[in-house]
Amino acid sequence: MEIKKVGVLGCGLMGSGIAQTAAMAGYETIVREVSDDLIAKGFAGIEKSLAKFAEKGTLKDPAEQVRARLRGTTRFEDMSDCDIIIEAIVENLDTKRETYLRLDDLCKPETIFASNTSSLSITQMMSVTSGQRQQRFIGMHFFNPVPIMKLVEVIRTILTDAGVYEDAVAFAGNLGKVPVRTGDRTGFIVNRLLVPYMLDAIRALEEGVATIVDIDNAMKLGCGYPMGPLTLGDFVGLDTTYYISEIMFNEFRERRFSSPPLLKRMVMAGLYGRKSGRGFYDYTDPKNPVPMNLV
Ligand code: 3HC
Repeated sequence: MEIKKVGVLGCGLMGSGIAQTAAMAGYETIVREVSDDLIAKGFAGIEKSLAKFAEKGTLKDPAEQVRARLRGTTRFEDMSDCDIIIEAIVENLDTKRETYLRLDDLCKPETIFASNTSSLSITQMMSVTSGQRQQRFIGMHFFNPVPIMKLVEVIRTILTDAGVYEDAVAFAGNLGKVPVRTGDRTGFIVNRLLVPYMLDAIRALEEGVATIVDIDNAMKLGCGYPMGPLTLGDFVGLDTTYYISEIMFNEFRERRFSSPPLLKRMVMAGLYGRKSGRGFYDYTDPKNPVPMNLV
């Protein structure tokens, strides 16, 4: 099946990045949010990102062409004729299931449903849709910042139709990404490996192995990672990291996925990382983060 029109649910950090990526790759794209204000906020982020690409001269098509392919809406009805819908709304299973139930009725039978969830079960979302749709239900997990990060994990359930899965893999390639194939196991490939690593870095800090800056520098300079694990935690969001680790621990019951007490305390104290202004670092001056005194 040829994918021509892309729908994106949610215009937050991930949704706006996915919508931008689709429009940059030449797809007619519509993105749905609950309010006009949230659409405006998401589109402002897209503008900033487009400006960075334009400045570097790496946009394939001029920014106005990309903009012309992008539309925001607050109506689910406007998504009915999309060939694929990529959902990037809040990581709440009940909210996602309600949304899929509603869209299943509205969308044409061929529409592929794809969730960008990082850790919830694709199968659990898929199970609220009709029998036909269940075969057209997959996961497409993008990485932050979406317009830059090359990877998409393409996830199949035990009911996903083989042809639909291959269409989705090809579509990820057409978005300019490198698709990797994986099944519906909590955390897929990346978070299964990344989350225990980030949690271990927090444990190392908690146990006094080294300071925040030294843990980050060790992994950045010793292993060639673009960010140290604590900086990455602040970048991803410590609330998100905590939430993912809880889901993974519930699934596997293994210590490596359990949240260190320090992470839990930081989340309870509202230290979510960059988005709240403080996490392992204080971002009062975003260009010069200062390590926090936490232990
Ligand atoms: N749009 C367009 N361009 C962007 C951009 C965006 N949103 N964000 C960064 N850039 C560009 C910058 O303009 C810059 O371009 P230049 O090299 O030509 O000047 C380039 O990317 C590098 O950016 P910076 O100089 O600001 O900073 P860095 O060199 O540190 O790169 C980074 C930023 C790409 C975010 C890099 O630090 C990185 O790759 N970090 C790791 C990110 C990561 O691991 N993400 C995955 C998180 S896990 C996840 O998302 C899964 C979820 O389930 C938890």
